[in-house]
Amino acid sequence: MSNPPVKHKPRVFSGVQPTNALHIGNYLGAIRRWVQEQDQKENFYCVVDMHAITIPQDPETLRRKTRELAALYIACGLDPQKCVIFVQSHVREHAECCWIFNCITPIGWLERMTQYKSKAATQESVLTGLLDYPVLMAADILLYDADEVPVGEDQKQHVELTRDIAQRFNTLFGETFVVPQPVIPQSGARIRGFDDPSKKMSKSEAVNRGHAVLLTDSPDEIRRTIKRAVTDLGREIVFNEAPEKAGVNNLLEIYELLTAQRRPEIEAHFAGKGYGALKTEVAEVVVEGLRPIRERFDELMSNPDELDRILDDGAERARAVAAPKMKEIKRKVGFIVR
Ligand code: TRP
Repeated sequence: MSNPPVKHKPRVFSGVQPTNALHIGNYLGAIRRWVQEQDQKENFYCVVDMHAITIPQDPETLRRKTRELAALYIACGLDPQKCVIFVQSHVREHAECCWIFNCITPIGWLERMTQYKSKAATQESVLTGLLDYPVLMAADILLYDADEVPVGEDQKQHVELTRDIAQRFNTLFGETFVVPQPVIPQSGARIRGFDDPSKKMSKSEAVNRGHAVLLTDSPDEIRRTIKRAVTDLGREIVFNEAPEKAGVNNLLEIYELLTAQRRPEIEAHFAGKGYGALKTEVAEVVVEGLRPIRERFDELMSNPDELDRILDDGAERARAVAAPKMKEIKRKVGFIVR
């Protein structure tokens, strides 16, 4: 029998699909806090290329985007010494564990998933992998006995399904998995789309021009997007939660998060100025705030050997946790463990 792991720090597991670029909302709403907290937690950050292919992908593009996303995480300040940053397909236990979970997960649980229903509606032919997506996600999380799973609101249902799978396995085969908690960022850190401030900035809409500032955008692209940000017909530059002021409020919140100034100071600074001046200043703060990230990203992307070495190391450290866990799972379900 294997002993439960001795745990000192809470373990965090999060995954991100390499198919969409990260935007400033991801950074200010989530990644920045992960960076600040990386010493307090034991962190696993996984680039989920196996999830990405549940929607058909161009092979070369997928490979490039997988490296880009890993590089961006590191460029944002996640330290590969402190965090395990790895690619999902490098750790074969994710696929193995997914299969076993498939065999204890009723199809009805999967057909109920709202993300499945909305993605399936856009596909001509729905792939088995798309339905199975949340089971693979459960394998990702449970293989590491993660305590916390930081995700956006849209993934909460998948983490709840993960909890159901963990509990079902524990009931059928005996205590095996930690039942994880979803961790959703507070609403304060919810950056809105520049083209439509009534909506949260989203990765899937980031392809539309004017919606988001991507972490890899050039200074000119950043300036152009923010210049075009939707505001309102008024002229008051104050923090205001009212829906009709959402555009100005969003710009002010970005300014606040990046300058760490206090709200009264910021309002005093902008008093009497116009929206044009507000946008110019916010754009410059964003350009400067993202500059170190962009520079580190370019450096990493120009040195793919170094990046691949970091990812190899991440895969080794992930396997050091996932492989013994997988043996335990196989033993529990009645396989002969070699
Ligand atoms: N489904 C998640 C998303 O699209 C990505 C993901 C895959 C994930 N595996 C995970 C998130 C494990 C958290 C934990 O955002």
